[in-house]
Amino acid sequence: MASFTLLIPTLISLQFYLLSLAFANVNIDSTLSTADNGVWRSPSAHFAFGFRPFNNDTDPKTKLFMVAIWYDMIPDKTVVWSAKTDNKLATAPTGSQVRITSAGLTLAGPKGDSIWTSNLEGIIVSVGSMLDTGNFVLLNQNSEKLWQSFENPTDTLLPNQSLQPGGTLTSRLTDTNYSSGRFQLYFEDGNVLLSTLAWPSPLKYNSYYVLDASGAASTLVFNESGDIYAKTTNGTTIQPQGSQWNSTDLDPEVNYYRATLDFSGVFTQYYHPRNSTAQPGWKIMRYVPDNICNEIFYQYGSGSCGYNSYCSMEKNRPTCKCPYGYSLLDPSNQFGGCQPNFTLACGADVQTPPEELYEMHAARDFNFPLGDYERIQPYSRQDCRQFCLQDCMCAMAISGGDTCWLKRFPLGNGRQQPISDQHFVYIKTRVIRNFYPGANMELPLSPDSKKEYKAKLFLLGPLIGSLVLNSILLATVALFFLMKPKVKRVPITSSSPLETNLHSFTYETLEKATWNFKEEIGRGSYGIVYKGQLEAGSCHLVAVKRLDRLAQEREKEFRTELSSIGRTCHKNLVRLIGFCDEGMNRILVYEFMSNGTLADILFGQSNPKWNVRVGFALGIARGLVYLHEECDTPIIHCDIKPQNILIDEYLNPKISDFGLAKLLLSDQSRTTTMIRGTRGYVAPEWFKNVAVTVKVDVYSFGVMLLEIICSRRSVLMMESGEEEKALLTDWACDCFMEGKIDVLVENDEEALSDYVRLQKWVKIAIWCIHEQPEMRPTMGMVMQMLEGFVEVPNPPSPFSYVPCLN
Ligand SMILES: *[C@@H]1O[C@H](CO)[C@@H](O)[C@H](O)[C@H]1NC(C)=O
Ligand SMILES: *[C@@H]1O[C@H](CO)[C@@H](O)[C@H](O)[C@H]1NC(C)=O
Ligand SMILES: *[C@@H]1O[C@H](CO)[C@@H](O)[C@H](O)[C@H]1NC(C)=O
Ligand SMILES: *[C@@H]1O[C@H](CO)[C@@H](O)[C@H](O)[C@H]1NC(C)=O
Ligand SMILES: *[C@@H]1O[C@H](CO)[C@@H](O)[C@H](O)[C@H]1NC(C)=O
Ligand SMILES: *[C@@H]1O[C@H](CO)[C@@H](O)[C@H](O)[C@H]1NC(C)=O
Ligand SMILES: *[C@@H]1O[C@H](CO)[C@@H](O)[C@H](O)[C@H]1NC(C)=O
Ligand SMILES: *[C@@H]1O[C@H](CO)[C@@H](O)[C@H](O)[C@H]1NC(C)=O
Repeated sequence: MASFTLLIPTLISLQFYLLSLAFANVNIDSTLSTADNGVWRSPSAHFAFGFRPFNNDTDPKTKLFMVAIWYDMIPDKTVVWSAKTDNKLATAPTGSQVRITSAGLTLAGPKGDSIWTSNLEGIIVSVGSMLDTGNFVLLNQNSEKLWQSFENPTDTLLPNQSLQPGGTLTSRLTDTNYSSGRFQLYFEDGNVLLSTLAWPSPLKYNSYYVLDASGAASTLVFNESGDIYAKTTNGTTIQPQGSQWNSTDLDPEVNYYRATLDFSGVFTQYYHPRNSTAQPGWKIMRYVPDNICNEIFYQYGSGSCGYNSYCSMEKNRPTCKCPYGYSLLDPSNQFGGCQPNFTLACGADVQTPPEELYEMHAARDFNFPLGDYERIQPYSRQDCRQFCLQDCMCAMAISGGDTCWLKRFPLGNGRQQPISDQHFVYIKTRVIRNFYPGANMELPLSPDSKKEYKAKLFLLGPLIGSLVLNSILLATVALFFLMKPKVKRVPITSSSPLETNLHSFTYETLEKATWNFKEEIGRGSYGIVYKGQLEAGSCHLVAVKRLDRLAQEREKEFRTELSSIGRTCHKNLVRLIGFCDEGMNRILVYEFMSNGTLADILFGQSNPKWNVRVGFALGIARGLVYLHEECDTPIIHCDIKPQNILIDEYLNPKISDFGLAKLLLSDQSRTTTMIRGTRGYVAPEWFKNVAVTVKVDVYSFGVMLLEIICSRRSVLMMESGEEEKALLTDWACDCFMEGKIDVLVENDEEALSDYVRLQKWVKIAIWCIHEQPEMRPTMGMVMQMLEGFVEVPNPPSPFSYVPCLN
């Protein structure tokens, strides 16, 4: 009896002794922690179990680890398994521990909180072991396997590992991110399938590959020799079908093998030489499907590549490319999809004609066969291209034969395809206009030109021959130069002066229409404006402007200028209906604007709402873009200010008095007008002996934009203590520099709630009032920035400008 009781412990210890020869045992209560670099190796040291970094963070507070098994004798240390719960990778912060208890494997955080367990109930583990096959097992007293990593695979199968129905492989997210990814291998109805997942949910889309075992597959086997096949219920074996799944010589003595469902969705068998002196690295042996780029074809999901990118097989791997004008969303992840380098926008703010914003780039060698929103037929290639250009929804058009497919974002399932005469791709891209041609965003700081300017004044002083107080000198010099600013003259091309549809009115008609110039509705820079009615009783109201101060020698140019004004047609310009040119009388007849001037509205009793103001700014900018960039010959307005913007019954702003500057520019009497009209709006170059360009309008627009934003005049008398607010341009710059833009629109809740636009527009305004004309953006550029198509760089600092000369 005594001998028998003694025998039992001996047998048990003998059994343990034998076991430890076959595998490296890990006893109960053994732990690994993220702090020490400890691992549990297999007896031959081919495989190791332990912590691996999940991210590359160096800060211990954010650094994460995962519990993994990897090939330990190769330089890559390739991970073949990682701990997951419900298909979600278990990540552990610094200070976490893995422990073997009688209940199984547990991963606990630094405070002892459970992160992952091997999830066993009602069993008693007596030992764990890392086997030489790469399988980590938990055994009971009788050396029966209670749990094995082989039965809980992640994305990889190893030789001697098999997958039973119910088992799955889920790809990782990217090459370097071990989180669960977008593809899955699984059993269904006795076959083995590959499907895309509706990431991050577990929903499977249609399969893109089937290992067809006629519904009889019972296991997916990776046998010891390195072969992979499905075993059927009646014992036959079925090889994966595919032209790239070639039978090869297998030699597990020479090579390591692994089969991984890659993050790109391809199920690949790799080999790696065991001999450490050979060239290291995993090589592709065979894979299914043949061409994943073409196999994934489903209305949902992006395909193997991410959205807006297209896929092609290169060197046995899918690779993803961005269409022209697009770039990778995440430059480090080729499979993460592409985004256009621009915003494709529809909506009220965007009224620039599409031809100006976009162009269609032609390509031939790819397709996005799904995701059409229109299919038009018959339709020529040219029409197809044009249709997409015009349609703000359209991102890309494909023309094939006489059919036109219009595509919208996001573009999925993109793939390369052979070039054919039947297939043309048109990609909508932004017209590229640099903010400043030839300059990058690193703009030079503006020199302290205020100082320079003053120096120049003093140099000029002796020329004028009076040594007087600085302020008087300043005014004199200003006057001197105001008398002869140079406006770029544009050669007159038309020989016949009036080839427009302008009416020529007799003086008598207009006298009658205005009830003998009775009802004065305004006094502009160029004369008095009267209300009129062309036909008695009609509702066709007109504004009749009598030009005074027109120099005699300008008579001939009057008609030439009129013809250029008459040719303009834009909804943000006041339309010239006709004119009268009889003897000394020069009269212009305009459409009548019922809501008065912008100045009336903006500085009147009730401030217009933010939305309305936004509409004003956009409309005026559009009108100016037209004058500067879209007319046959650019028209410089020279006197942009709220008094010259009229508002129609639908609150559309319309620029008036354009085209007149040239007529009156050298008129002596203009100087006084100019000084009055320019106060606060005039660009500094007017006071210098330099050419005046369209940039003077940009300057004035900038001042006016600030007025529109802040609903106040550019120059105000302020009470003491608030003097810094007197000059709006100065004050806005100060507020911007100090990051206090909100004080500019105090109490304007709507403006404050549109803060991104508010901030952007203040920046745009500051760019516009830059002292140096060449630093100011063009109106076209201003328009794009207002519409949000182009980023607005921060204006240079320190900032110096001469807002006005008073
Ligand atoms: C991996 O992807 C997941 C899901 O997008 C993300 O939360 C995680 O931060 C990524 N990890 C790394 C290391 O990039
Ligand atoms: C971490 O850095 C290494 C080396 O730069 C890189 O190979 C690896 O992909 C990075 N891992 C992650 C998750 O970003
Ligand atoms: C491979 O698996 C079989 C049974 O599944 C087992 O008998 C054999 O010992 C394993 N081979 C190795 C090298 O462990
Ligand atoms: C593995 O499978 C191949 C054929 O599929 C067979 O020739 C080989 O004998 C198998 N090896 C083992 C160890 O079963
Ligand atoms: C085994 O099953 C497969 C698929 O169902 C079938 O094609 C094959 O003929 C069967 N073989 C035998 C010996 O029954
Ligand atoms: C498999 O064989 C085909 C045809 O012989 C060949 O084109 C292909 O490159 C091979 N695939 C691999 C992965 O070696
Ligand atoms: C490893 O490869 C080298 C050269 O390729 C060879 O000389 C050596 O014998 C190989 N070692 C083994 C263990 O096969
Ligand atoms: C799009 O942006 C990428 C990255 O900024 C750039 O490399 C590429 O040249 C751009 N393409 C076009 C057409 O602007």
